[in-house]
Amino acid sequence: MTQDELKQAVAKEAIKYVVEGAMVGVGTGSTADRFIDELAKIKNRIDGAVASSQKTADRLKAHGIRVVDLNSVGELPVYVDGADEITEHLAMIKGGGGALTREKIVAAVAEKFVCIADESKLVGVLGKFPLPVEVIPMARSHVGRELVKLGGQPALRQGFTTDNGNLILDVYGLTILKPLELEAALNNITGVVTNGLFAQRGADVLLLGTATGVRTIRRK
Ligand code: 5RP
Repeated sequence: MTQDELKQAVAKEAIKYVVEGAMVGVGTGSTADRFIDELAKIKNRIDGAVASSQKTADRLKAHGIRVVDLNSVGELPVYVDGADEITEHLAMIKGGGGALTREKIVAAVAEKFVCIADESKLVGVLGKFPLPVEVIPMARSHVGRELVKLGGQPALRQGFTTDNGNLILDVYGLTILKPLELEAALNNITGVVTNGLFAQRGADVLLLGTATGVRTIRRK
């Protein structure tokens, strides 16, 4: 199976977690795009969707799916999104697409986070994928120096501005043995908007696309 077929398979499986007549939170990226395409097939059975990025909102609307502002939503039973890396404990690195802040906000509201990923995303230790950190532009150099003190090598994502008008520093060279602690430490740096570690609010379910089918891993 190709990587795209694996993404397609997990996107289809994720539809089973969508609650009829309710809102669904939708992530960003190529796997989330496959999910949006599947969601379009059942769009008359949901109340609408909350998007984690402008790109996702545009794709949802193009499919005729109602997009609702998160502030107008009381309850969000499920959020479906991809990941750049995920462990068996369901901690993740996200933000390869630069949508980490809105993804984290929608995930915080959702009762259940369903992560959809192909098997290349499952890792023993997080950090090989450079960790995205969203930064207020005037704090870029300060945050960069603080990231070096924490053992990382930050690189400015060139030519990229987030949906919130900020910058992304991609941090290379980290071996993240304590994701919860690092997530908190990064959030403590003045000028950091958020970071791509999803440990405090990890996934509740991982649907992992493998050559032998979709494997389901639940939070213990
Ligand atoms: C975007 C993300 C994505 O979920 C992550 O980058 C995975 O993307 P893809 O499904 O294209 O591999 O966090 O900010």
